Amino acid sequence: MAERMRSFTEVLLSVENISLSFGGVKALTDISFDIRKGEIRAIIGPNGAGKSSMLNCINGFYHPQQGAITYKGVRRSRMRPHEAAEQGIARTFQNIALFKGMSTLDNIMTGRNLRMKTGLFWQALHFGPARREEIEHRKAVEEIIDFLEIQHIRKVPVGRLPYGLQKRVELGRALAAQPELLLLDEPMAGMNIEEKQDMCRFILDVNDEFGTTICLIEHDMGVVMDISDRVVVLDYGKKIGDGVPDAVKNDQAVVDAYLGVSH
Ligand SMILES: Nc1ncnc2c1ncn2[C@@H]1O[C@H](COP(=O)(O)OP(=O)(O)OP(=O)(O)O)[C@@H](O)[C@H]1O
Ligand SMILES: [Mg+2]
Repeated sequence: MAERMRSFTEVLLSVENISLSFGGVKALTDISFDIRKGEIRAIIGPNGAGKSSMLNCINGFYHPQQGAITYKGVRRSRMRPHEAAEQGIARTFQNIALFKGMSTLDNIMTGRNLRMKTGLFWQALHFGPARREEIEHRKAVEEIIDFLEIQHIRKVPVGRLPYGLQKRVELGRALAAQPELLLLDEPMAGMNIEEKQDMCRFILDVNDEFGTTICLIEHDMGVVMDISDRVVVLDYGKKIGDGVPDAVKNDQAVVDAYLGVSH
């Protein structure tokens, strides 16, 4: 696939001089970059580079000691996870985080929780507003199931599914929240080529059809170069590259980091 030359101007989220450490370990040092509305932004880098930590700062799981993140015009030194979710940020995890004993349908339904307005009282009674709301949520979930082509596994407990499909269900759970910004931590890790191609197609379709801005971490360089509009490169917690795929690919510092040239 040729590099997609798309350009975006409106900044949705900007990371400004973020530093994060765990005891003596500096996971992130003075990181700045932005994510523009509508783009597919990749974060790459060797193991331990700080990629997952970066996503964890964006959605409020980690609180950086320094720096700020501006999202939709609001600047915060720390974001809380529920705040991030309410503001339209959803994510998937490097290690699949699903309820293994629950069906595909029910797992995706948990992604709607945030959007449920009626309290437990009405839900327990199972009529009136709660009933109407449930029908509405089920409809949204069924649409996601169709979109991800997983009708055949809607009733299957997730723990019984092959890994590639579990990853797809997890994407479905994140989509159920109808996010504006979708964070994907290694959505294709451990997949075979065919599963990767499917996942690429779904990511591109989510971006095209729903206009969802996507920030993904991925190790497969072919995939990154194919589907992302811009790439941030981290190495030992520092940003060593940022730009369109072609520029990053030919950047000497980036090439050195991947070849393991000593620092
Ligand atoms: N909760 C934590 N407690 C202590 N150290 C942590 C924690 N999370 C991350 N780290 C450390 O921060 C550094 C960056 O880790 P991170 O998981 O962000 O890297 P990564 O780029 O996602 O790596 P990988 O490609 O292996 O997933 C590592 O040295 C890691 O051990
Ligand atoms: Mg990681």
